[in-house]
Amino acid sequence: MKKTASGNPKRVLSVGEVAQRSGVPISTVHFYESKGLISSTRNAGNQRRFAPVMLRYIAVIKVAQRAGIPLEEIRQTLGSYPPSSKLTASQWHEISSLWRDMLDERIKRLTRLRDEMDRCIGCGCLSLEECPLRNPDDVLGEKGPGARILERP
Ligand code: FES
Repeated sequence: MKKTASGNPKRVLSVGEVAQRSGVPISTVHFYESKGLISSTRNAGNQRRFAPVMLRYIAVIKVAQRAGIPLEEIRQTLGSYPPSSKLTASQWHEISSLWRDMLDERIKRLTRLRDEMDRCIGCGCLSLEECPLRNPDDVLGEKGPGARILERP
């Protein structure tokens, strides 16, 4: 345990302790660090040491991943706060509000896709008047690759 200038112990965690306490493999801790989602410092022996607040970051990352939020979005959101800082309740609320809006938008898109899928799978009519997947003359192909109809906002 490292001592601060005031003599108070400053608790830091090894990568193994972070993995054990957060319930993720060591490789995941390293992966999150390599992606800039969490950070560490090095001790005199050049070993990684993590502030205990990183356990909270990992918990939030896991919840966000379960909700389908892309890692890059998680990184950008967490990166908008000072690195390794202990976020306040109000800052965590800001994050959850931001991700809630994103999830609401995704739910809306998936609901529409589900309804369109009900109509189109097994139909195949590609009706000009009725089909949401209709793409006459491949005009969407000019806008770039990918399933543009399915991914539209
Ligand atoms: S294929 Fe018939 S409605 Fe889409």
